[in-house]
Amino acid sequence: MRTLVAYASKYGATEGIAQRIGTVLQDKGLEVEVRRCEDLDDVSGYDAYIVGSATYEFNWRKAARRFVRRNVDELAAHPVWLFSSGPVGTEQVDKNGQDVLKAAEPKQFSTYADLLHPRGMQVFRGAFDHEKLRGSDRLFAWMPAIRDILPQGDFREWPVIESWAASIADELQPVR
Ligand SMILES: Cc1cc2nc3c(=O)[nH]c(=O)nc-3n(C[C@H](O)[C@H](O)[C@H](O)COP(=O)(O)O)c2cc1C
Repeated sequence: MRTLVAYASKYGATEGIAQRIGTVLQDKGLEVEVRRCEDLDDVSGYDAYIVGSATYEFNWRKAARRFVRRNVDELAAHPVWLFSSGPVGTEQVDKNGQDVLKAAEPKQFSTYADLLHPRGMQVFRGAFDHEKLRGSDRLFAWMPAIRDILPQGDFREWPVIESWAASIADELQPVR
């Protein structure tokens, strides 16, 4: 089973998630490549695809959106899973009483559900370090109203990520 994990990351948090997913799949005996969406041209020849992106202002990164657009037929014809690295903080529900992970779904998920019929679409908590931010991200994240909803830190839940990846491996390569 050749599996591609394609990701779009701006500051590295999503890259870390993609690499961890790749490691879990490899440990489960799958042949895996973990690559940046920007670096991928022809993606034929894989048996399954996992595509992930950081979410900024409710949207996937442009590189991930372009990747899906370019490869929609190939992706739709194979088992595909999507993940998003988004909400920061540890709250389970937001101030409107909505599930934080549900509320953080990128706008693209509903479109991709119809286009790709993914076997799973998962939002993971993300991470950011204010010192690493550049340009308008830095100004935006420092605004008092935004600081409350964007606490800085690393909130990635590795056991959750690993168990999601393990369930994909089991689905692709059931234990005999
Ligand atoms: C300027 C800015 C905007 C963000 N917008 C969102 C958002 O709309 N929804 C969300 O869930 N997370 C948002 N986040 C959190 C990031 O998605 C999170 O930090 C992510 O893990 C970053 O991944 P990366 O390091 O791979 O780019 C935002 C972060 C910043 C700095």
